[in-house]
Amino acid sequence: MDTFEAIHSRRSVRQYKTTPVPDDVLNKVLEAARWAPSWANTQCTRYVIVRDPVVKEKLAGLVNRGNPSTEALKNAPIVIVACAELRKAGFYKGVVSTDRGDWFMFDVGIAMENLALAAQAAGLGTVHVGFIPDSKKVDELLELPEGVVSVEMTPLGYPAGESKAPPRKELSEIVFYEKYGKH
Ligand SMILES: Cc1cc2nc3c(=O)[nH]c(=O)nc-3n(C[C@H](O)[C@H](O)[C@H](O)COP(=O)(O)O)c2cc1C
Repeated sequence: MDTFEAIHSRRSVRQYKTTPVPDDVLNKVLEAARWAPSWANTQCTRYVIVRDPVVKEKLAGLVNRGNPSTEALKNAPIVIVACAELRKAGFYKGVVSTDRGDWFMFDVGIAMENLALAAQAAGLGTVHVGFIPDSKKVDELLELPEGVVSVEMTPLGYPAGESKAPPRKELSEIVFYEKYGKH
């Protein structure tokens, strides 16, 4: 599958088969995340692979009430929780470099989208799940050390059925030339 095809065909998958994901396939998608770019190659992203049904159930209980991915977090064979080491992205010699602060959300986002695209190419589904009102509870559940925080999680598994593409804005609505708002 070429890059454009993977980008276009990737969907948020919220229904999964219980079929296990072989370790070599899991490693392939993790490898795609590993090769994502990061601030000064600081590679702040960490991945916790959860297979334990009890822990998956607890993670599902930490998303907002009515989150459409709640069942997916319980049913998929794997949940990957993306975490970040703080004070790496956006820092130079330990000092914050820009007025945007810690860039961990950016670096984790890039890495996790690499993972999602590689999963798509491997016939697997993912969905970025970020609506977690109290992410400290995720941190505690997974025993994250001081200075590491959870950012998002995704189920990983074989999709059960098709997912429809929600529409996108037209390029004319989101692309400007020379100055913001200029077409
Ligand atoms: C940062 C982020 C957080 C998201 N959080 C959730 C979530 O909590 N639950 C959910 O079902 N989908 C979540 N999504 C998935 C979006 O709803 C989805 O990507 C969007 O509707 C476009 O659909 P598509 O991924 O199929 O193209 C999230 C996506 C992103 C990028």
